Amino acid sequence: MYNEKVIDHFTNPRNVGEMPDADVVGESGSFKCGDTMKIYLKIEGDRIADIKFQTFGCGAAIASSSMLTEMAKGKTLEEARRITNKDVAAELGGLPPLKMHCSNLAADALQDAINRYLDGEKGAQS
Ligand code: FES
Repeated sequence: MYNEKVIDHFTNPRNVGEMPDADVVGESGSFKCGDTMKIYLKIEGDRIADIKFQTFGCGAAIASSSMLTEMAKGKTLEEARRITNKDVAAELGGLPPLKMHCSNLAADALQDAINRYLDGEKGAQS
């Protein structure tokens, strides 16, 4: 059902864990299954210097989260906010159709974190 890349990211997830000194934390949840995810960002200038995640979800969600952190690390906030769940699934070599919604968790949590950070910056300027 899952390809080797997905299994690799599920059994050996990259960038997993909490980040106590994160600049911002994003969250997401799936209405379909109740699974949730948090993403932590360390931002330097306008770049994602470090990123970590915690996912309380299925194997596809964990693999997607792991892949997303690898894709987003080092990118500018503008570049990272363009990463979609389809990009993550494609980078994983595809997900079974029934599991496509699982990749939303990761992409949504990243968007949430970036939006919160940019909103906070706007708030600080006004
Ligand atoms: Fe919930 Fe995959 S079944 S995220």
